[in-house]
Amino acid sequence: MSATPFDQRDGWIWYDGQIVPWKDAQLHVLSHGLHYGSSVFEGERAYGGEIFKSTEHSERLKKSAEILDFEIPYSVAEIDAAKRLVLEKNGLKDAYLRPVAWRGSEMMGVAAQANKIHLAIASWEWPSYFDPAQKMKGIRVDMAEYRRPDPATAPSAAKAAGLYMICTISKHKAERKGYADALMLDWQGRVAECTGANVFFIRDGIVHTPVADCFLDGITRRTVIDLAKRRGFEVAERRIMPEELASFNECFITGTAAEVTPVAEIGPHTFQPGNMTKVLMEDYMAEVQPKNAQAAA
Ligand SMILES: Cc1ncc(COP(=O)(O)O)c(C=O)c1O
Repeated sequence: MSATPFDQRDGWIWYDGQIVPWKDAQLHVLSHGLHYGSSVFEGERAYGGEIFKSTEHSERLKKSAEILDFEIPYSVAEIDAAKRLVLEKNGLKDAYLRPVAWRGSEMMGVAAQANKIHLAIASWEWPSYFDPAQKMKGIRVDMAEYRRPDPATAPSAAKAAGLYMICTISKHKAERKGYADALMLDWQGRVAECTGANVFFIRDGIVHTPVADCFLDGITRRTVIDLAKRRGFEVAERRIMPEELASFNECFITGTAAEVTPVAEIGPHTFQPGNMTKVLMEDYMAEVQPKNAQAAA
């Protein structure tokens, strides 16, 4: 990826119903979303010009906004169409898409009942480099100090910007120590997720993953669970305590950005990325291929 800052790029951004030049997609400093975290977003990928599970992402965006007590003034179908338009206008095929919705600047205080709800959709080129041999070496993951909050304390089911504050702090700390990411426990001390991806383990042929009851139930997570079941693998969604980490043979993380990425280390624990991880990695890459191209093949 180029090192050009994100506000300096060329291209087109969908902004409140209009396609505007990239550099004109701005907002005022007195935006509620900036001061009070009233912002929700999505991260999606297009493969070969087709957005993977676009409608599920649009539905989650709408749902995240509802959880934050605001309504995005566009339907799921309109958001899906806007995303397609952004891809087309920018001439992108293998790309990342970033829809973001936020409260505007009509009122400046905790309450913002009358503030306009904005929606913008940006997209940029993001090829999915798939070099299995390289990927199978696995990434190194640190243990985060912060925990995912109790759902009684924060709107943990929403993909809300405010929930990423502790992710950024944790990821920065991990990177400074030479790790690629950090694993967060939940408010009860159970294994939860990484800073931008869900986590899976394998032991004795069984796939284990934490119950998504206080963190994002990733669309990739659900896809991989489905793929594992289609392969006939047993999948155990359950409470996983950190003491168990030593007993797992394989580990991988899942997410729109991470896809399926093997993990070699979490803190003092080591894993040997193996056959089941490789199969799921390959199945996922097959699953995301555009359906039209598959039909044509
Ligand atoms: C905190 C967090 N958990 C999990 C995920 C994985 O979600 P998805 O698979 O829907 O991209 C993401 C990525 O969006 C994330 O940011």
